[in-house]
Amino acid sequence: MAGSPSADGAAPGGGHYGEDLFAPWEPREAERVDAAALVYDPVTTRRLRALGAGPGSRCLDVGAGTGTVARWLLEEAGAAEVVVLDRDTGALEALAGPRLRVVTADLTDEGLRPGRFDLIHARFVLMHLPQRRRLITRLAGWLAPGGRLVLGDALEVPDALDGSSAYRRTMDAMWRALRSTIGTDVSSVPAYPHFLREEGLRDVAAELVVPPLVAGGPLARFWAETWNRMRPALEETGLVDAAVVDEALAYLASPGLAELGPGMVLAWGRRSRGGAYVRIFDVVR
Ligand SMILES: C[S@@+](CC[C@H](N)C(=O)[O-])C[C@H]1O[C@@H](n2cnc3c(N)ncnc32)[C@H](O)[C@@H]1O
Repeated sequence: MAGSPSADGAAPGGGHYGEDLFAPWEPREAERVDAAALVYDPVTTRRLRALGAGPGSRCLDVGAGTGTVARWLLEEAGAAEVVVLDRDTGALEALAGPRLRVVTADLTDEGLRPGRFDLIHARFVLMHLPQRRRLITRLAGWLAPGGRLVLGDALEVPDALDGSSAYRRTMDAMWRALRSTIGTDVSSVPAYPHFLREEGLRDVAAELVVPPLVAGGPLARFWAETWNRMRPALEETGLVDAAVVDEALAYLASPGLAELGPGMVLAWGRRSRGGAYVRIFDVVR
């Protein structure tokens, strides 16, 4: 089907995060990632703390970006070991130390064996990877007995009454362009709790957090930077032209901004402490 990720997990356009969009060497890419981290870190770290992230734990942060969550695990939670894994670790190298290991690797590399962990966290990563379902299986397989897998990805909560505003059209163009170029897809994010159960994890639960979208605030800056970065791809969708994107950008910076922006679903589950590791998916099939 046109516009859908193919069965082998490739993006329809064959592109990759970090190559065909959001290359780490682009000006202001670290600032763009940090603008979202600034808003979501308190939510993420509160949840990680509640799930037991603390002294002595061995943690893996997948697609660690600029390392804000890894730093919290190390400095605030007192983790014994933090492994940060990313295909681009330029922003992470400076964090390396006796308790923080930097692994430069592609998560989709089938040969990857980073170890066993008490906590594995992946935020805003799987949504960008067409192989996301298979990757959840692999991440669950890296859990130590009793270990937690915590997934955070974006979810749109669109205003069904708005089909034509510049904001709505630009946001829709963005999701379509992301999907066709690098295979980003947030449609399966609400299914994450089911996926975690299929992996045999217990105590599965999820929450949806939608931080306020405030003109001039970090999230408005994040979306503005993202749209600016994607301008040619947005226009190629045919849903917007340059004038619509300009209008949407001006709206993001204006006092008239009044939107429920995209939020983040956090979903988590725990591997049992003893017994066989059984994927429910395999049992019910
Ligand atoms: C949107 S950023 C999120 C960064 C961080 N998790 C956060 O929430 O602030 C996505 C990150 O995933 C990394 N990434 C994307 N595809 C990857 C892959 N195939 N393997 C490993 N890392 C990947 C990118 O390099 C980037 O650092």
